[in-house]
Amino acid sequence: MKITVIGAGNVGATTAERIAYSELAHEVVLLDIAEGIPQGKGLDMYEAMPVVASDTRVTGTNNYQDTAGSNFVIITAGLARKPGMSRDDLLAANAKIVGSCAAQAVAYSPNAFYIVVSNPLDVMTYVTLQKTGLPRNKVIGMAGVLDTARYRTFISMELNVSVEDVQALILGGHGDSMVPLPRYTTVAGIPLADLMPQDKIDAIVKRAANGGIEIVNFLKTGSAYYAPSASAVQMAESIIKDKRRILPCSVALEGEYGLSGVVTGVPVKLGKNGVEQVIEVALNNDEAAAFHKSADDVKANIAKLAAMEY
Ligand code: LAC
Repeated sequence: MKITVIGAGNVGATTAERIAYSELAHEVVLLDIAEGIPQGKGLDMYEAMPVVASDTRVTGTNNYQDTAGSNFVIITAGLARKPGMSRDDLLAANAKIVGSCAAQAVAYSPNAFYIVVSNPLDVMTYVTLQKTGLPRNKVIGMAGVLDTARYRTFISMELNVSVEDVQALILGGHGDSMVPLPRYTTVAGIPLADLMPQDKIDAIVKRAANGGIEIVNFLKTGSAYYAPSASAVQMAESIIKDKRRILPCSVALEGEYGLSGVVTGVPVKLGKNGVEQVIEVALNNDEAAAFHKSADDVKANIAKLAAMEY
């Protein structure tokens, strides 16, 4: 198992570290255009392996040749948000960066699964699908796991229960119009509405939808990375171990939920073939309208790509 992580910033380095520490791969390659950064971080991580008892070999490089034959390519490269920016403000710059990373990576790893983390997430997943030419089961955007993790954390804080017992679903794009679904949120099997008044649920839903900017406003110089990297690794793990976890991920829709030509967040089954199933849950009118609005927002951004060079 060889995993390449593109981008040696906070998200990329933390992702590589998690994979190496958990020995999820024999080989981790950290790639970045900045000379010395991936090499230094990679060697530093490698030198932690005797201490954490993992035989993962971690190397850093500026050269795509070193990524050849990867089973996974995790794309984290690109600019991160600063306070006052929406994820969509990153569109033009990151389409160029992610497009170039995907095109170069697929030349050396044509059979890999591609997990996309760069923002705006759903559009960057679309760009990666285009540039790699791979089928949708192999190109998967990480957003829903992160967004639901935030939502689950806030519910756990409010109820003072284990985060593990909170199960939840968020649909739609990784943006301001994402759609947390309280009706599909349970705590140890108990519907959320039985445990919390509606105004609390509404406040938590809102906080989850704004979870990314809450961190950006604290950090000032960048965006979240601990929860994002944990989320990307959980997706890879489900595929590597053929666990068939049902996780919300950003995938190309081909008629599901009445949508096509768009990449957005839906629950999928992740097994050894990547996306093995897109799961369609029944939505009431309000939920369906919110989901379609979110998908339309992503579509509008995908349409902007036509006028860009990337
Ligand atoms: C977030 C950014 C990275 O949600 O999209 O934290």
